[in-house]
Amino acid sequence: MSSEAPFLEIENLTVKFGGLTALDNVSLKVPQNSVVSLIGPNGAGKTTVFNSISGFVQPQSGEIKIAGQKTAWPKTHKLAALKISRTLQGVGLFSGITALENVMLGSDHKYKAGIVKDLFGLSGRIDRQLRDSAMAQLERFGALSLADKFPHELSYPDTKRIALARALISEPELILLDEPAAGLGQDDIDELAETIRQLKKSCAVLLVEHHVDFVGEVSDQVYVLDFGRIIAAGDFESVKKSPEVLAAYLGGEVGHA
Ligand SMILES: Nc1ncnc2c1ncn2[C@@H]1O[C@H](COP(=O)(O)OP(=O)(O)O)[C@@H](O)[C@H]1O
Ligand SMILES: [Mg+2]
Repeated sequence: MSSEAPFLEIENLTVKFGGLTALDNVSLKVPQNSVVSLIGPNGAGKTTVFNSISGFVQPQSGEIKIAGQKTAWPKTHKLAALKISRTLQGVGLFSGITALENVMLGSDHKYKAGIVKDLFGLSGRIDRQLRDSAMAQLERFGALSLADKFPHELSYPDTKRIALARALISEPELILLDEPAAGLGQDDIDELAETIRQLKKSCAVLLVEHHVDFVGEVSDQVYVLDFGRIIAAGDFESVKKSPEVLAAYLGGEVGHA
């Protein structure tokens, strides 16, 4: 790949659900080692951008380039091979297995099929290397002591840490984070901001988030969506002052940030 090309480039993405145009000619770029945020009112189409990139919805039109290469819109099961990972809005850990096993399941490792069998007691061997890398992810989040706990035994912020560790074990070049700060208190949001600043050293981040101060703190670039269209793009300070953005939020969050 060209080292100059953005990791992800979307051009003129349009998604329709029946008569509703959820995204209307959306274009955006996520440069390597940068944090790009997508903000906008509820229903603006933010999650639909993620769903288009990750194969959950089929766009009507538009192009996607990954590492400078024009490609088909990714299928869900091809994401790991494309070095793209995502966390879901909400948490989404598997409840019957431990935190460590949840992190291991995020791997696209060739032994994954064997691990799934191991988890359900169908074969004897769990790959040592994969377990070690899952432990390393837990350590990165200060969560080693959580390894053997089940999701229902974890605090909400801890489940979010585990979900992020699971998304990172495949060593993605792009991670899509849908509202990672939702439901967190200020201390955990500050920790998440630090995690994202660290993440940017090894991958690109595309972030959807309602906490505007947090977005301002971590983002290199911000795109504002409203009714499926990009109404402003640029650094946070300039976007915040855009008349279109102020109008879209009607003096709401952004206007007060
Ligand atoms: N699978 C779907 N089927 C039908 N309509 C959908 C679907 N997903 C999203 N929408 C609609 O598309 C619009 C954008 O939704 P979404 O991307 O979830 O917005 P956001 O994440 O910005 O709140 C909304 O009007 C929503 O109701
Ligand atoms: Mg959403």
